[in-house]
Amino acid sequence: MTAARAEAGAAQIAECGRILVERAGFRPRVHLILGSGLGGLAARVRDPVTVTFGDLPGFPDTSVESHAGEFVLGHIAGVPVVVQSGRFHVYEGYGSGIVLAPVRTGRAAGARIVVLTNAAGGIRSDLVPGSLMLVDDHLNAMFRAPLAGPTHEHEERFPDMSRPYDPALLSLAEAAALEAGIALPRGVYGAVHGPSFETPAEVRALRTAGADAVGMSTVPEVLAARAGGQRALAISAITNRAAGLGLEPVDHTAVMTYASVAGRTLESLLETLLPSMATSVK
Ligand code: HPA
Repeated sequence: MTAARAEAGAAQIAECGRILVERAGFRPRVHLILGSGLGGLAARVRDPVTVTFGDLPGFPDTSVESHAGEFVLGHIAGVPVVVQSGRFHVYEGYGSGIVLAPVRTGRAAGARIVVLTNAAGGIRSDLVPGSLMLVDDHLNAMFRAPLAGPTHEHEERFPDMSRPYDPALLSLAEAAALEAGIALPRGVYGAVHGPSFETPAEVRALRTAGADAVGMSTVPEVLAARAGGQRALAISAITNRAAGLGLEPVDHTAVMTYASVAGRTLESLLETLLPSMATSVK
């Protein structure tokens, strides 16, 4: 029974990928996943073709405000991209089949590189609201193993995670940040289940365990991307000081306000970064 379910999932993903390529008329090479409040980059896509999640077999509608739930295909700085606004979070109660469907769809459409963005709370002292962090490693504190279950078609059973974020892409991102005059310190992203924000004790535990920032996404998608042989890069937009580290309680509205501040910096960074990626995806 489980094998049949896994097979149906794979067939559906292949169909989703086929729909994206058919509508766009090209195969995207880079899949950009935009986090909460970070959707602005979708407007910078040239000759955009939009495919909403609702048009894809097996995709539910997204439920959180500000999650448009669509793929925009086109070119940014000459690079064929698929820009995803909205994602499915584990805190919404979705299983891995849904949470990982967008990254698998991007791969089925042709994406070899996945660039993930997210909103995160800053734990390390320099990670203040409005700043960016280049994720160079992660800590899965979701108490979930997103790849558990039948092996998905085109994914490894035991993917290596010793270098989850592509070393060459990390260097390209740092070079782009330097060129654009944007501070981009590296750090470890701690992923939690949510939807409640952390307690101060949980933040201290995450810090002790090595996390520099904390958020509720990205890690499941990176695991699937790596299992499927894609190269991953992730950047966090720091929207608040993590619980217990700032003067204010952690508040979703404030998170969204700072997401748009950090989001503008992130857009400039990605626009500088994409052309340098173009050569690395040919
Ligand atoms: N914790 C978890 N997720 C988040 C946070 C946070 O402080 N800020 C933005 N996303």
